[in-house]
Amino acid sequence: MVNVLVVGSGGREHALGWKLAQSKQVDTVFFAPGNGGTQNNIPINPEEIDKLIEFATNNDCFTVVGPEAPLSKGIVDKFTENNLGIFGPTKEAAQLESSKIWAKQFMQRNGIPTAPFGIFDDAKEARQYVESLNYPVVIKADGLAAGKGVIVCDGKQDALTAIDEMLVKNTFGSAGASIVIEKRIDGIEASYIALCDGVTAIPMATSQDHKRIFDDDKGPNTGGMGAYSPTGVITEELAQKIQKNVIEKTIRAMKKEGIPFKGFLYAGIMVKDGELYVLEYNARMGDPECQPIMMRMGSDLYEYLLASYHGTLGLLPQITWKNQTAVCVVLASKGYPDSYPKNETILGLDSVNDNNTMVFHAGTRREDGQVLTNGGRVLGVTALGTTLESAIANAYLAAQKIQWQSKYCRMDIGKKGLAFL
Ligand code: GLY
Repeated sequence: MVNVLVVGSGGREHALGWKLAQSKQVDTVFFAPGNGGTQNNIPINPEEIDKLIEFATNNDCFTVVGPEAPLSKGIVDKFTENNLGIFGPTKEAAQLESSKIWAKQFMQRNGIPTAPFGIFDDAKEARQYVESLNYPVVIKADGLAAGKGVIVCDGKQDALTAIDEMLVKNTFGSAGASIVIEKRIDGIEASYIALCDGVTAIPMATSQDHKRIFDDDKGPNTGGMGAYSPTGVITEELAQKIQKNVIEKTIRAMKKEGIPFKGFLYAGIMVKDGELYVLEYNARMGDPECQPIMMRMGSDLYEYLLASYHGTLGLLPQITWKNQTAVCVVLASKGYPDSYPKNETILGLDSVNDNNTMVFHAGTRREDGQVLTNGGRVLGVTALGTTLESAIANAYLAAQKIQWQSKYCRMDIGKKGLAFL
């Protein structure tokens, strides 16, 4: 038996830890720092790498990293130097997510389908580029910006404002000191995630996120307001195309460039007229995509993450999935993704207690026996159903039993998937 240390505090980490705890090979799952829904919480933040190394050493842990920030700071490299088992990509490999410029150039030189783009650190040149184009654009800060560094522009004025924010006003700090300006492709977006060991890539179940804050995909981008799995947007034929032309190509090219990629490789895919484009890579599981995916996973997650670390994924069979749909509705605090209240008491958590529904915690904490809000995205209510429609109904039935003063959620999670059944 082994102990596992899950690094992070979101719904993704709660879901990963919940699934890992079901493994017969896993003894205790610790969370650093965890949240109000996780147990065995260790008060160490994800970027306090030396402290995490000390904890993992003293408690004989295999470590699983959830968020991107510690990956981009080299947590995997430092654990490996200390002969500690850890799941995730090295700092260099995590550049697929931590530098949008690096990722776009990587895709370009390796023939991975992506929208045309330019790279700028000078506002005047960036403005001239936008003025010269006859199509709408998306502007991306090069570095990590907590999900806020991507601005989908409706017209030239939007684009000029975004350039000003990033390159003149430095709103995103050093993350926005260089930018990517790319052609906006208006198609249908879905998430394709594979588990990789540097050589082999095993697909996870498909999913679709809901990134905007309001129903019908209106309003600003968020970390994700809900997700469901599987998604009909990615047909079997399209999945094979993505696996071959994006995932396996990426893994091969990373290895060839001397940067083998281990961990979850997430490709944000835009599908338009049967063609696919990689919008972005993430070097980790998606949040909230992780929650419905974990609900559907039949295989032992620990066994697969360990095989990724050892480079032996090729010896394992494909992952098995429950033949059901899972829907995760994110319950947030009103005001998110901008400012929002905290420390409100959450009621009704105990009233959700059927085997097909899980309430994964994110921005919560416990105090005096109560669960309080502690972040923008607070809970991910995730339910299984025999169909997408029934999973949606089950998730909203549970979501309405949970209350706090500033609770907000989208009411249309999963709806856009119904057209693809
Ligand atoms: N749900 C999108 C992400 O994890 O970045």
